[in-house]
Amino acid sequence: MKQKYEKSHLTYKINNLVHKTIRWCTPSIDLTFAQIKDQYASDISVSFESFGYPSEPSGIFKKVYEQAAEAYGADHTLFSVNGSTGSNAMILRALSKQIPRLKILAERNVHKSIVTPCEDYRINLIFLEPNFDQDNQLFIPNTEEQIYEGIKKYKPNVLLLTNPTYDGMCLDLKSVISTVRKNYPELIVYVDEAWGAHLHFSDKLPTSAMEAGADICVQSTHKQGGSLQQSGMIHWHDGRINNDLLLESYRSLATTSPSYALLASLDAARETMQKRGKKKLNHMLTIARRLSRGINHIDGFEVISTKYLKKNFPSVYERDETKVIVNVIKAGLTGYEVAHILEKKYKIVPEIYNIKTITFLIPFRATFGDVQSTISAMAKIAKKSKKMNIDTNTIEANLNFKTPTKIPRILELNKVTKLLGDQLEQVPLNEAVGRIAAEDITPYPPGIPMTIKGEELTKEIVEYYLKLKESPNFHIAARDKSMETVLVVSKIKLV
Ligand SMILES: Cc1ncc(COP(=O)(O)O)c(C=O)c1O
Repeated sequence: MKQKYEKSHLTYKINNLVHKTIRWCTPSIDLTFAQIKDQYASDISVSFESFGYPSEPSGIFKKVYEQAAEAYGADHTLFSVNGSTGSNAMILRALSKQIPRLKILAERNVHKSIVTPCEDYRINLIFLEPNFDQDNQLFIPNTEEQIYEGIKKYKPNVLLLTNPTYDGMCLDLKSVISTVRKNYPELIVYVDEAWGAHLHFSDKLPTSAMEAGADICVQSTHKQGGSLQQSGMIHWHDGRINNDLLLESYRSLATTSPSYALLASLDAARETMQKRGKKKLNHMLTIARRLSRGINHIDGFEVISTKYLKKNFPSVYERDETKVIVNVIKAGLTGYEVAHILEKKYKIVPEIYNIKTITFLIPFRATFGDVQSTISAMAKIAKKSKKMNIDTNTIEANLNFKTPTKIPRILELNKVTKLLGDQLEQVPLNEAVGRIAAEDITPYPPGIPMTIKGEELTKEIVEYYLKLKESPNFHIAARDKSMETVLVVSKIKLV
């Protein structure tokens, strides 16, 4: 009997929707970059021996890695087909084998792709207390003093910095690394540069990790560096990283069937960035300025300037201005609502949003026409919201919205990871105050875990989740997606 089938809705949706949409988000693909012709027909496997192998590396891959290392200012480069998520896992696995009882000191705004391998490889992950801009709900880099005090206190083997932050803020990386080298010559500096694959190609953008002298970094080239979604690079300098262990980790964790289309798109991104990156990035910065100017003229919307950030937060030394952050609260709307209206009504997709802001990421393909359409849509949204005389009670409440930054760690990540069965308990969220979290809870966007296993579910954090889950188009990655309940460590009351 013939089986009943449904058409591929995903294929149809992508074909029908995406090309009609203005995209202020990743991937930052440029259609003028070298491209594989006819991707389906060109899909091939590692059986083509004449290509060599990406995981050895050999053949053409050895050559393209060497060219990439030179282009991005590194001694060595590997290509990843599982984004920075895969690259972070490979690096953390290698480091856990290089250094027994590995201790990593990190900023608190780590991506979840750091936390999971630390659990799996029994790495002691310690956090600096985060800095936060409550008015705009943005993570701010830690100050140099906080970093040095943290190193002195915890004596880590690795310092992990998320630079740039999701919002494009960078600390003075050169200064941090030079101080670390002077005082702690053994300490490995590892930079999660997922958001910085383009930095190395413009002097109007922050300093890249490799240029600043970091030992190793990951980049999501697909985010802002011009390659296809899912592709990324690992770059490192000779000295503190064990090459054999890193390559062994790469071989162990990389798929044995990598997409050559993704790998080729990384090589093509490297080529274009070397040839025309500076010009392209200048164009993107011009687009960003025009968009900022237009939106700033709309009553109710305010672009968060680099000047504001630097003035209020001294740790912000440099900023990637290809990200335009807009505070929308004065228009009587939340960032979630504006993002929702933009996509649904105007087919405009911003990169990220929170209660108070939305962020437009300038991709390579952005045009001045996109700028005009977006300013016009934003003006209509502000006008309609004013006309509707929206009840500002909720907005007022949201204005007092605070993200908790005191997040006490009660149990080491390693200890919680080992707990099983009745050592764990699922409890209603509103009864979880004072308990130790036994799961990671990650609000999307931005994908930064707000609670990590072993941390206390304080009153502030529980209230934060209760409030946040009322927001439209809000999504929390947790065991119970409705967040009615949370997983906690059994029978240990802290209050
Ligand atoms: C700081 C940071 N690191 C790593 C990642 C993971 O990157 P990818 O999506 O390339 O796997 C992200 C994703 O947003 C990120 O923001």
